[in-house]
Amino acid sequence: MKTENSKQLFDRAMQVLVEGCSSASRGPMNYKPYPAYMREGKGARIWDVDGNEFIDWQLSFGCLPLGHAHPKIVDIVQEKVAGGTHFATALEVEVETAELMVGMLPHVDKVRFANTGTEACMTGVRMARGITGKRKVLKFEGHYHGWYDGLLVSSNPQNVTTLGHPNDPVRIPDSSGLTPGSWEDTLVCVWNDEEALERMLDAHGREIACVIMEGAMSNMGVIPPKPGYLKRAQELCRAHNVLFYLDETVTGFRVAPGGAAELYDLQPDIVTYGKALGQGFPVAAIAGPDHIMESIEYGKVLHYGSHNAPRLGLYAAKTMLEEMTRDDNAGFKKISDIGEQMTKRLNQVARDTGQNMRVQNVGSMFHPVFTDLDAITGYREFCATVDLEKYGTFSQLMRDQGIFFSGNKILHNLSCTEHTQADVDASIEAAGHALEQMA
Ligand SMILES: Cc1ncc(COP(=O)(O)O)c(C=O)c1O
Repeated sequence: MKTENSKQLFDRAMQVLVEGCSSASRGPMNYKPYPAYMREGKGARIWDVDGNEFIDWQLSFGCLPLGHAHPKIVDIVQEKVAGGTHFATALEVEVETAELMVGMLPHVDKVRFANTGTEACMTGVRMARGITGKRKVLKFEGHYHGWYDGLLVSSNPQNVTTLGHPNDPVRIPDSSGLTPGSWEDTLVCVWNDEEALERMLDAHGREIACVIMEGAMSNMGVIPPKPGYLKRAQELCRAHNVLFYLDETVTGFRVAPGGAAELYDLQPDIVTYGKALGQGFPVAAIAGPDHIMESIEYGKVLHYGSHNAPRLGLYAAKTMLEEMTRDDNAGFKKISDIGEQMTKRLNQVARDTGQNMRVQNVGSMFHPVFTDLDAITGYREFCATVDLEKYGTFSQLMRDQGIFFSGNKILHNLSCTEHTQADVDASIEAAGHALEQMA
């Protein structure tokens, strides 16, 4: 594969951009020795500046349920951009998009638009504190809720010897530059373990404003919840007068029309959406029942933002929701079906080639990990057994064959409505070659 143009861009980029791009996960840390600089995308494909074509399974980390440059998105954005980019005023499309969302989310009465999952989670936590008058927030090991200081604890994979006892996990800050005060009120618990949560809530429930979690772990490969775990977690929160906060930044408008809340039959108190919602534009939302959402009325709990409810992004979001729900939610069914197929067939290829690769999924989100365990059910198993370097090699061998698997070793891959059966077949064939080469 010729990559001369990317190489030249990388050399230029290193003069003016940190790591040659705008996020560590896009640069040489994950794409060695330099990343392919992408030029355009259409459907499920992307092309780099050397003209190499890839079937894209990374899909902007989940921001593109309809794939790249979907004709309906291109049309609406082209039509609307001529009428102005952003007004920072109340908008008709804001009402229409929120109406569609509320119609799909039985646990939601009201929506407040933001731009990114990080901002939405930051706001949601502030709301929980404002409503309850309690200071502490409980999060889980290996769950990521964006890069807000107060939630930037114990999100990354670590050597298991540093994690402490599961009854009292050591809180590990994910970055330099955090003051101890910023995460002093952030408690950390082991996920997918009812007793661990019960113990934590028994000990600290009176001080905890909310328990925040991903419905399925999506930043440590893909780790689904154990049957009944999420419902029990919700029940425990209610029993302790703690708000149950489901971060659906990844799962929202992806794993089901109503997200993980629908898939696992939950009624969360606070929910945040992002990624898929904007169909490639930065649109996020905080949502919930009236008695929760009224907390941000008139800045009682403050939520501001010049770019909130971005006009073009909302047209894209509204169009995405209309497209995905058309024909009895055919879009949601299609992405789940493709994700299931990828999961089953990748697992089969792993067995056929004798590699210890295991693929786990929740609908359209799937991720291969190299482990000797039959399944990964928790963060600590992930840290103790998963060979991240092997995934790095595998994903590079896939990209060398024109199949774009995420270079980020812990983030999952995804399907979109534009993936075809031929794309699945080609990707499975490439996986076979990659795994044979790794033998
Ligand atoms: C579960 C979850 N919450 C929040 C975020 C932060 O979203 P954003 O990157 O839009 O700030 C992410 C990002 O990966 C996420 O996976």
